Amino acid sequence: MATRKIVKLGDDALRKVCKPQEKFGIRLNLLLKDMADTMYKAEGVGLAAPQVGILRRVVVIDVGDGLVELVNPEITAVSEDTQCGREGCLSLPGRQGVVTRPMAVKVRAQDRNGDWFEFEAEGFFARAVCHELDHLDGRLYIDVMDRELTEEEIGGHIPEDDLPENCADEEEEEAGEDTEA
Ligand code: NI
Repeated sequence: MATRKIVKLGDDALRKVCKPQEKFGIRLNLLLKDMADTMYKAEGVGLAAPQVGILRRVVVIDVGDGLVELVNPEITAVSEDTQCGREGCLSLPGRQGVVTRPMAVKVRAQDRNGDWFEFEAEGFFARAVCHELDHLDGRLYIDVMDRELTEEEIGGHIPEDDLPENCADEEEEEAGEDTEA
C-alpha cells in the first residue's frame, strides 16, 4: 500500500484547473492505486488527483458501494431536484459545510484503459461526484456552500439533517407562493 500526502487548503494545487489525462498505462494505474489507498486510509469517500498534487483530471470515489475510478469525467446532465446536506473535504480537515447539490447527475468518463463509459449517480453518490469534479476545476465546497458548520454542529445534529432532499426547491416554491399571494 502506497499512500500519498494530501495537500491542504492554501496549497496552489487545489486552485488549478487540471489538465486532461492523456496517457493510459502503468503510471495512471499507479496513481489510481495510490489515490484509492490514500482515500481509504484517510477514511474519505472521494479523492481528486490535485489533492495529492497531481494536476490531472482523475478521481476516485467510494461511498460504500465499491471503488469508482473516473478519468476525464464530465457531468452531462443534472436533475432539477436538489439535495441539501453536510459536506467535508480531506483537504480541509475538521471543517464541514452545508452544500446544495443536484439530487442526480449523469456522468461520462474514461476508465483506466481509456474506454468511455456513462453512468447515473443519485443521492450521496451524486454529491460525491459533484464535489470531486469541482476539485478538477480548482473549486472547493467552501466556494459553493450555503453555510459553514460550527464545531458543535459538526459533532451534533443540524436542522439540515432532517432535510434529506429538496430543501432548496422548497424554499423556491415558498418564495413562489408568496409572490402569487
Ligand atoms: Ni474534497
